[in-house]
Amino acid sequence: MEEQIVKLRIEELTNQINEHNYNYYVLNQPVISDLDFDMMLKELEQLEKDNNIDNPNSPTKRVGSDLSNVFEQVPHKYTMLSLANAYSESEVIDFDNRIRKVIETDFEYVCELKFDGTSISLIYENGELARAITRGDGEKGEDVTANVRTIRSIPLKLRDKDYPASFEIRGEIVMPFSVFNSLNTELEKAGEQLLANPRNTAAGTLKMKNSKIVASRKLDAYFYYLPGENMMIDGHFESLQKAGEWGFKVSEDTKLCKNMNEVFEFLKYWNEARFNLPVATDGVVIKVNSKKLQENLGFTAKSPRWAIAYKFKAENVSTILQDVIFQVGRTGAITPVAKLKPIWIAGTKVERASLHNADFINNLDLHISDTVFVEKGGEIIPKITGVDISKRDASLEKVIFTLTCPECRTPLIRTEGEAAFYCPNEDGCPPQIKGKIEHFVSRDTMDIEGLGKETIKLFYDSGFLKNITDIFHLKEHESQLIGLETVKITDNDENEVSPEIPVERLLFCFKTGVALKDFEKLFKSVSKHKLAFISSNEISELTGIKSDKCDKILSLIRSEISIKSVLKSLDENDTTFSFQSLLINIIGLNPHKAELINEHFKYYYFLLKANQTELEKIDGIDIFDIGKINDFFNRKNIDHDKLNHLNKISIQQKTFENILAGIEKSKDIPFEKVLFSLGIRYVGETIAKILAKSFKNIDNLIIASVDDLKNVEGVGEKIAMSIKEYFSVDKHIQQIEALKNFGLKFEIVEKLSTEEKILTGLTFVVTGNFGTPQLRDNLKNRIEELGGKVSSGVTGSTNYLIAGEKAGPDKISKAKKLNVKVLTKEQFEEKFKTTI
Ligand code: IVH
Repeated sequence: MEEQIVKLRIEELTNQINEHNYNYYVLNQPVISDLDFDMMLKELEQLEKDNNIDNPNSPTKRVGSDLSNVFEQVPHKYTMLSLANAYSESEVIDFDNRIRKVIETDFEYVCELKFDGTSISLIYENGELARAITRGDGEKGEDVTANVRTIRSIPLKLRDKDYPASFEIRGEIVMPFSVFNSLNTELEKAGEQLLANPRNTAAGTLKMKNSKIVASRKLDAYFYYLPGENMMIDGHFESLQKAGEWGFKVSEDTKLCKNMNEVFEFLKYWNEARFNLPVATDGVVIKVNSKKLQENLGFTAKSPRWAIAYKFKAENVSTILQDVIFQVGRTGAITPVAKLKPIWIAGTKVERASLHNADFINNLDLHISDTVFVEKGGEIIPKITGVDISKRDASLEKVIFTLTCPECRTPLIRTEGEAAFYCPNEDGCPPQIKGKIEHFVSRDTMDIEGLGKETIKLFYDSGFLKNITDIFHLKEHESQLIGLETVKITDNDENEVSPEIPVERLLFCFKTGVALKDFEKLFKSVSKHKLAFISSNEISELTGIKSDKCDKILSLIRSEISIKSVLKSLDENDTTFSFQSLLINIIGLNPHKAELINEHFKYYYFLLKANQTELEKIDGIDIFDIGKINDFFNRKNIDHDKLNHLNKISIQQKTFENILAGIEKSKDIPFEKVLFSLGIRYVGETIAKILAKSFKNIDNLIIASVDDLKNVEGVGEKIAMSIKEYFSVDKHIQQIEALKNFGLKFEIVEKLSTEEKILTGLTFVVTGNFGTPQLRDNLKNRIEELGGKVSSGVTGSTNYLIAGEKAGPDKISKAKKLNVKVLTKEQFEEKFKTTI
């Protein structure tokens, strides 16, 4: 192409791609398919490459680069001030009064959402992004332009033409909840510490050295302020609209308010509606609209007098701390979790809160049964923010962090500098073993379908699944595994299924012939309190249930004492009752014994399936208690199976075959995922990918030194040490060998180009032993990867015979006769410059 035509095409593509980026990321209205977009981008990339063009604001630069960022300190032209805060409506009224003392004419306010991220200042020169600077100390910030270029909703080149030749615009860089949540899911899978909130994560991401990683983090940005005098327009609201036309993402939820009533309406609305936004907000910013009036009002040393930030109240509710439990993760890390009396915060039921670590518990000086304040702010997991000491009884017992593992009783250890305690019993601690297996089979790792959490538990309890290599031996235990049965205690989103039993189900299991559906109708329309004196006709009228069924319902409620006491024990709005309540009210155990049984079984189903010896083994349970339980299970008017509300899982022939098929399929999973699946601490999906790419196979990785590892982009001291430590354990090496022998991929399979397929047109025969059958398979696969053909018998068209130990003498002599070259594995490797 002629130079001029190339230039024009580049310009055309750049403009079109910028426009599509704007449609997609700013307006949320894509007009072309992803494929068409990618094709345009590819064409532009190629043209730039062929013509040595390096435009930093080309849309091809959005993907970032591996080059290490250096963040230069730059002074701000206009100081980046913060805002004064208001925490109540009366403080907003005070703000308005202060302004009205200075401005006597009528004026308008602009109400905007206060985005909870990290602030940024962008400088545009002649319509192109010239610099992006962080807030820093307000006077000077850091130049993060390379990272900011990767944020797709930020224009690299402005639309329209009526922008000033040079101007500055400020906004907030945020991480959408969806991106934040999936990052955390990834970290959780890697056994790493979770990120606290989207705000810190956005700020951390913006300061990353590698802009490619920044690009993958999908940050977003909203703009809300144009400092300086060169804007031509007096209204702040109007200048934001202009900025929107130039291509900036400006929140649509900005409102021009004529009076304080409208301001309060806005505050009230967003106090609730903010929970539906895709990004975190922590308040509303109220600004005087006219810039002239803003100038009159001026600034204090810290903030403008013409604006205030009204902060949303993080909904803070008090409840009772019922217990503290210690959970063991797959890496052995112990997480203390608060069990709370259920409360509703920001539209969700909260029953648990993370207590982070031992220091957190000590700082709060927590006691069991304390009244605690729980808050659900920007954080996803609710947190305990304090204790209401005035409600503390002197007799309450202080929460002590456990010294031994709650599951296997091994004394815990704490590495210097780390907040978490660990259970070191990696191979003997059930949740660690099961957790490692769950991680190994999950969708992002070996993706073995059919092996869910419950099935793993079932196989683990049966003794046939004690580590990941056992998965590949399951086939040998088919006859013992088929027929096993359990229930699903976590739903599809991995949330625990409540052990509580819906009250309608309790009534349903008494053999009255009334359908579960009718009991459900009953509890929807009639309050429990009313059930004590309601007539059969009334029930029928209220619910539409046939009158003979209503008679049956009433006679059950009136005659069965245990049901009366269950109904009495429930709060008015509660339609479930706990397993413990069943043990007390229906089986008749005293509360202490009920607690022991509840702790041991947790779900009704497991008590139903328990045998005499298991019950006898529980400390504190005597023959009288067991007698009561047996009496209950012997009652003829109760259908015990129906009382169980959980989904049953049973291992049938077909289920088992599916599992085996899933296991077989996992042998094709690429090396990077196999590496991730091993569960090496700090080696998440991304790091595993990077390591696989750099080291090519597991053997290279095993022998790599800490320095070799640290030389890899993205791998720091902590990760390198963890990898080295993992491979220094003999058992881990043996496990890898075993998995290799089962056929799992421990090297990357690179797709080779035609020129790299050096064995094309050559035919090979492989004979004899090469250490393990796996190695022999690897050798054959390698020949095929390099384009060669592998056949079984030596003929005139064979080019090479590769002979291992105890090679078939017939084949060797035939090869000699036909002038076919014979090579050892080593000679093959040397001749074709490859390794097996
Ligand atoms: S105006 C001189 N508007 O809140 C006034 N700030 O606490 C400049 N923020 O540093 C700020 N949303 O990072 C403004 N709609 C909004 C905002 C907003 C979030 C942040 C910004 C600022 C901080 C002040």
